[in-house]
Amino acid sequence: MPEDDITLTVNGREITAPKGQLVIAAAEQHGVFIPRFCYHPRMNSVGMCRMCIVDIDTGRGPALLPACMIEVAPDMKVDTESATTKKAQDGVLEFLLINHPLDCPVCDKGGECPLQDNAYAYGPGESRFVEEKRHFEKPIPVSDVVFLDRERCILCDRCTRFADEVAGDPLIHFQNRGNETEVNTFPDHPFASYFSGNTVQICPVGALTAKPFRFKARPWDLEKVESTCTSCSVGCRVTIEASRNHVLRYQGVDIDPVNWGWLCDKGRFDFEAIESEERLSEPLVRKNGELIAASWAEAIGAAADAIGNADASSVAVLGGARLTNEAAYAWAKLAKGVIGTDHVDAQLDDGLPGMAVVGLPQATIDDVCTPGTTVVVVDANINEELPVLFLRLRDAVLNRGVKVIELSPITTGLASLASASLVHRPGEAHLAMRALVGDGDPAAVLEGDLDAAKALLGDTVVAVLGRASIGESADAAVEAAAILLDARADARFLVALRRANARGAIDMGLTPGLLPGRVTLDTGRQWFHEHWTTVPEAEGLDATGILTAAAEGRIDVLVLLGVDPAADFRDHDLAQRALAGARTVVSIDTFMNRSTEKADVVLPAAGYAETDGTTTNVEGRISVLEAKVTPPGTARADWMLAAELAYRLGADLNLESVEGIWNEIEALAPAHAGITRALLLSPAGADGVLVPLRPDVATAAEGQPVQITGIEGSTPDNAALAEAAEPTEDPDEPAPEAVEAVERAEEETRDRPETVQFSRGVPYEAPALDSYSLRLIATRKLYDLGTLVQHAPSIAGLAPGSELLVHPYDLDRLGVRAGGRVKVTSPRTTLTVEAHASTAIPKGSAALTVNQAGPDPADLIDATQPVTDVRIETV
Ligand code: SF4
Ligand code: SF4
Ligand code: FES
Repeated sequence: MPEDDITLTVNGREITAPKGQLVIAAAEQHGVFIPRFCYHPRMNSVGMCRMCIVDIDTGRGPALLPACMIEVAPDMKVDTESATTKKAQDGVLEFLLINHPLDCPVCDKGGECPLQDNAYAYGPGESRFVEEKRHFEKPIPVSDVVFLDRERCILCDRCTRFADEVAGDPLIHFQNRGNETEVNTFPDHPFASYFSGNTVQICPVGALTAKPFRFKARPWDLEKVESTCTSCSVGCRVTIEASRNHVLRYQGVDIDPVNWGWLCDKGRFDFEAIESEERLSEPLVRKNGELIAASWAEAIGAAADAIGNADASSVAVLGGARLTNEAAYAWAKLAKGVIGTDHVDAQLDDGLPGMAVVGLPQATIDDVCTPGTTVVVVDANINEELPVLFLRLRDAVLNRGVKVIELSPITTGLASLASASLVHRPGEAHLAMRALVGDGDPAAVLEGDLDAAKALLGDTVVAVLGRASIGESADAAVEAAAILLDARADARFLVALRRANARGAIDMGLTPGLLPGRVTLDTGRQWFHEHWTTVPEAEGLDATGILTAAAEGRIDVLVLLGVDPAADFRDHDLAQRALAGARTVVSIDTFMNRSTEKADVVLPAAGYAETDGTTTNVEGRISVLEAKVTPPGTARADWMLAAELAYRLGADLNLESVEGIWNEIEALAPAHAGITRALLLSPAGADGVLVPLRPDVATAAEGQPVQITGIEGSTPDNAALAEAAEPTEDPDEPAPEAVEAVERAEEETRDRPETVQFSRGVPYEAPALDSYSLRLIATRKLYDLGTLVQHAPSIAGLAPGSELLVHPYDLDRLGVRAGGRVKVTSPRTTLTVEAHASTAIPKGSAALTVNQAGPDPADLIDATQPVTDVRIETV
């Protein structure tokens, strides 16, 4: 028993619990459920509802005390079944039901409602109150996606605490007093939060409902599978809930290393896109200038003929971050192992180079959030791009003593949490880093207290490295990482790629110069030659290189693997010329988009919730994806398309099932040794498994007490809870799957090629800025004009649009009135837009938002240049 553990008695049974644990949690871990409404394990206890009062004897005689407010103490005696406890529970429930409307038959929560469950299990059975119930206007929209049926509210303070404590958006509050107390928003201030849907999930009654789910299904109609959100790369665990082959809801699942049960609203509500009538459901082939429906045989045949007739060096594959790991592997094997091209890039030059992603010493989300850590956030717009990571970091700063130093070209949503915010010119993150950790010029920091930031650098430094602006190349961020590593060899990095499975696709080799399992072409050539037909001779082109080659007529076949460069590549002009210049464009996607419209062959792909497989999150954690519904029409899984194309090319990928593909990945990819499907599907792999496998995966499973996690909300069955609390295996032994996996990894990695270590490339220096220009910052917002958001009606309208933001000093200097129309000119083009003043933008810069209604910075950017300088003049 660990030294800090405490022994107490619950219902006559002796248990041990860690010091500081609340009685309600300790009892639950040992199979005794104490009913509750306001208590939530991821928020501070408030003791609002009194549902959890039980007999607790701390040595001064039994007393009725709220179990969610009392910590375990030595020799404490807890009785959750005493007559006084029972009487108190009866009273609390009778009291709560005085005002509750009991409209369960028409309430969305009916069937999964803790108030219903607790009333049945712990309530008095009848009420002495017969008065008329309260009536309010209903439903009240508290945000664009959340509705309030006020008469159902039991004032538990969960939604309000979540908004304030967890999300930091205190926009819903208790107002008035006593009998008049109510949850409300402030006039003209809706609950505009990226996380509002979590309040619906944690509301213990049907007071808060989500617009996309309201009146759609009863809980008992829903079939559920557990999966992972792939709308960004945080990798939040979810349940996909469907009825009659239609996805109707995602709910957050609480896993400790990642999302703690929270989801962002984009991830929670973009399921509507799956159901869109605009999904691609049949292959299309261009004939006489028009895309016409075709058979699979004809469409695949056309794509295969084009590839077969081309030289390997003139075939390029762009995209792959939408794919599962298995599909990415199949495509890497087709491109590199059959066709023989290394012109393959899963990213659209909007992340960081694959070599840096896999080579930098890796940090986990938990590493970032460990007490005492100094987190250096380099050009990562976390709250817009990786929202639930922002929640984790917010908790770490506010509750765990983590200090954040932010290096950014713009004041982001993280600034309020950062202990130091250092603003640098776009493209000069490396100069700011050198000033922070070395002897660089302090003038590189345009705003912020450099000395205070230096003083914050503690013993443990973890960097979150991103790409806040796509107006510049990734070089400055990579150089900044190299400078940090030079100064602090023990620094580790969470590479904050935004695209969902970009990390997995890179790990599978969908990036130039790498083969599956984080090995370079050179180190892995011999190993993969033994198992594949061929391996490319030389490192291929990245996204910008591929599109440049296509624009110059050097690409015969351009395969778009779930990407839309015409809309999403950071240089629209180059993307358009590339689509026109490639002789054949094959697009594999779930929707028509600006690029598929230019394609010669369009193959409909099965999307999220329609395919099994695995995904890899931002920290390199692999978790399982489950299919729940069938794809529309004849759409097929991406890996099947790779296998079919290979077959048409006269080769055989020997990949016949998702399980088979994973087995091959585990057997061949050096970084993935030991990560078997059995491990991923075992309890030891339930929270995902980090690549490469760490020996602590076996010890982590050791003697785990029962975890009552999963979907927070409904009341567990007490008998099932008690059974789950009894470990079925020896609690001192690690899970057998974990032990086997670790042994296997140790044995297998001995024969496999070495994985990539970060090596500094050519040192980067940003070009000087002339005094007539402003340097462009091109950032993203969570909601944009992207495919998923725009095909999810509930959130499609939330994309805020783009406007030109400039520091007031520069507006003044240029003689531009705030709100006035200006011409913004780059070497690419001129846009006419309204200019607005913002002190979030440093002097000398101008900011636009990517992929929004309004001016798009991608029209101005030349992707072959390191930065984008623009000139502004009044119209
Ligand atoms: Fe609690 Fe729901 Fe009322 Fe909010 S709306 S206070 S979560 S019952
Ligand atoms: Fe999905 Fe990312 Fe949102 Fe999590 S943070 S719910 S992974 S979109
Ligand atoms: Fe303890 Fe509400 S759950 S007072």
